Amino acid sequence: MTEDKIPRTSRISGFHKLAVDERIEQVAAFAGLADDHRRQLALPSNIDTHLADHMIENMVTTIAIPVGIATNMRVDGRDVLVPMATEESSVVAAVGNAARQCYESGGFATSMSGTEMIAQIQLLDIPDPVRARLLVLERREEIENICNACDPVLVGLGGGFRDLEVRLVDTPAGRMVITHIVVDTRDAMGANAVNSMAERLAPDIAAWTGGRTLLRILSNLADRRVVRARATWTCDAIGGTRVRDAMIDAYQFADNDPYRAATHNKGIMNGISAVVLATGNDTRAVESGAHAFAARTGRYRSLTSWEVTAGGDLAGAIELPLAVGLVGGAVKIHPTARALLAILQAETASDLTRIIAAVGLAQNFSAMKALATEGIQRGHMALHAQNLAFAAGAVGNEVGEVARRIIAQRSINEAAAGTALAELRGQ
Ligand code: MEV
Repeated sequence: MTEDKIPRTSRISGFHKLAVDERIEQVAAFAGLADDHRRQLALPSNIDTHLADHMIENMVTTIAIPVGIATNMRVDGRDVLVPMATEESSVVAAVGNAARQCYESGGFATSMSGTEMIAQIQLLDIPDPVRARLLVLERREEIENICNACDPVLVGLGGGFRDLEVRLVDTPAGRMVITHIVVDTRDAMGANAVNSMAERLAPDIAAWTGGRTLLRILSNLADRRVVRARATWTCDAIGGTRVRDAMIDAYQFADNDPYRAATHNKGIMNGISAVVLATGNDTRAVESGAHAFAARTGRYRSLTSWEVTAGGDLAGAIELPLAVGLVGGAVKIHPTARALLAILQAETASDLTRIIAAVGLAQNFSAMKALATEGIQRGHMALHAQNLAFAAGAVGNEVGEVARRIIAQRSINEAAAGTALAELRGQ
């Protein structure tokens, strides 16, 4: 593609109608991808057996998950194309649709509390926990030095020890003294860095207090690494006041009923986990952090909040802990994750985090809008029908035709797909 044809906007109309190789070319041109990244994206099975064998134990094979590109995203004034790895249909389209509807009103604005992780050290068998807590707090300078000596590279990059907290936790097994070391892990997710520090520090804490240390591990409730994103959808862009008010009712339902909140937040995580996975980050760490944060008030609630602005538009916001990195773990060694990160052009872990939060909000907008209006089945079923056609053995043009027939018959199930395929082939 020549320079003057390179799309600098994420608003690529008709992207879904392009052939797969044409999509790769557009994305590569947008992000100025290097040839090795471009080639990597074109490989259908893109992880080497040797590498996979070194990533986990007892490896026997790999499983490929499709990666789609969410278009129309504008985050903090910058257009981005967002890779999403998911096996679920409609998730990528939902993000692109939500982003299109708020693009003209500025897209998404974000902020972050920081890039600090917490590691916990559990201290037991303490007769005088109040005194023990203060004994640990008095060693702050020493603790800072011990932690920073564990990771001079991190310190050189501007990270390292930031804070110390000691909590008393009452349990049926007695009062425990729980030390938190707070460490800025910068562009790393930071699990290895903080776990090493906690393990190194534990014997000293035991010696200072006369207690026994047991667990030494990070907390996935990364509430020193909270990201926020917000966006405004004009009332006109979303189809008027009835749609807007129905979406507010949908949100209130989720925020006040844990049964609904679980599904509402699952939809948000459809978007968030897809980007986390595509970039080689730890989906389980992000998910457990998000759900723990959603329950921080003692009641499990929505991760998003929605309100009507003074001008009558719909404003949405999301806030959650999001521990992802650009260095370390699979992020650095998985060649496809590297190529997908290059599409995002995220220079820091914070850039990546902000984009992911915006995706979560976009996902929630689309799910709530669909649920509060026509329901999700209509959009969902079109893709589901295609999957059924595939499962029935349809190939090439047969896929679309079988899907069309079972949708028209309103019997979107495996048996109907088999019958439709047999009829099609019999014609
Ligand atoms: C399905 O994967 C996600 C939804 O159930 C989310 C929601 O109900 O908000 C549609």
